[in-house]
Amino acid sequence: MKVLIVGYGRMGHEVEAALVARGHKITARVDRSPGLGDATEISSQMLQSCEAAIEFSLPEGILGNLSSYAAAGLPAVVGTTGWDAQRDEARKLVEGQNSSLVYGSNFSLGAHLFFHLVGEAAGLLKDLPEYDVFVTEWHHKLKKDSPSGTALTTAQRILAALPRKTTVVTERLDRPVEPHELHVASVRGGTIPGIHQVLLDSDADTIEITHTARNRSGFALGSVLAAEWLVRTKRKGFLSVDEFAREFFSAAGRKV
Ligand SMILES: NC(=O)c1ccc[n+]([C@@H]2O[C@H](COP(=O)([O-])OP(=O)(O)OC[C@H]3O[C@@H](n4cnc5c(N)ncnc54)[C@H](O)[C@@H]3O)[C@@H](O)[C@H]2O)c1
Repeated sequence: MKVLIVGYGRMGHEVEAALVARGHKITARVDRSPGLGDATEISSQMLQSCEAAIEFSLPEGILGNLSSYAAAGLPAVVGTTGWDAQRDEARKLVEGQNSSLVYGSNFSLGAHLFFHLVGEAAGLLKDLPEYDVFVTEWHHKLKKDSPSGTALTTAQRILAALPRKTTVVTERLDRPVEPHELHVASVRGGTIPGIHQVLLDSDADTIEITHTARNRSGFALGSVLAAEWLVRTKRKGFLSVDEFAREFFSAAGRKV
C-alpha cells in the first residue's frame, strides 16, 4: 500500500515505523511545521500518488485536510482528537463525495478488547447493586484534552450496559457521588502514554480492569490495519474506529 502520512509528530513517526514493518511504502510526510516533514501542505500530486492517507495531526484546520481527501476520493484514517464539534461537517464532506474515512480517539485494538471486557463486566452488575463502578485515566503532562476520548468511550460502554448509571460526571466532585452518576477522574503528569482503569467496587472486594498503553505503537499499528481494511474492502462512508474493530474481531471469530 502507498500511504501519505499527515502530521509528522510523535504519532506520525510511529505510523511510519508501523507502515515500514508491514511492508508499505510512504509516499510523503506532511507537517505544517516547516522542516519536520517533506512538505507543509498536502498537494494534489500527493493525493494522486497514494492509496490511503493516515493523519495524526492537531484539530485546528482539520476540515481542510479532510475535504482534500474526500475530493480526491482517497481513503483516510484520522486519529487526531479534539474535533468532535466538527464531526457533522466532516461527515457531510465525506458522504457528499462518496469517499471513505475512519476516525476515532483510540486505534489500539488492545483498547477495543478493554472496551468489550468493560461492557461485559458492567452488564453483569445489573443484579448486583452492591457494586459501584467508576473510571480513572492517567496521561502524560503534555496531553491537551481531559478527560481522554478513550475514557469517555469507556464511560459510554458502561452506561450502555448498566441501566442504573445514566450520567457521566467528569469534573471534581466536592459532594457525594449520586447512585446514577458514573465518575470519571483524570490525572496528568510525567510521560504516561495512557492508563485507563475501571473499578467495580463493593464492601467485599474490588475488581479492576486496566488497559495500560506501554507506548504509542499500538495506536499506530491499529491505524495501519484500519487503512489496510479500507483499501482491501473498498468500504465507503464516514466510519467510526468501533466499526473497524468490530469487523476486525468478528473476522477472527470474535464478537466485540
Ligand atoms: N486515535 C488515537 O489512537 C490516538 C493516539 C495517540 C494520539 N492521538 C492524537 O493524535 C494527535 C497527534 O498526536 P501526537 O502525539 O503525534 O502530537 P504531536 O504534537 O507530536 O504531533 C502533531 C503534529 O501535527 C502537525 N500538524 C498540526 N496540524 C496540522 C495540519 N493541519 N496538517 C499537517 N500537520 C499538522 C504538528 O505540526 C505536529 O508536528 C493528537 O490529536 C492526539 O490526541 C490519537
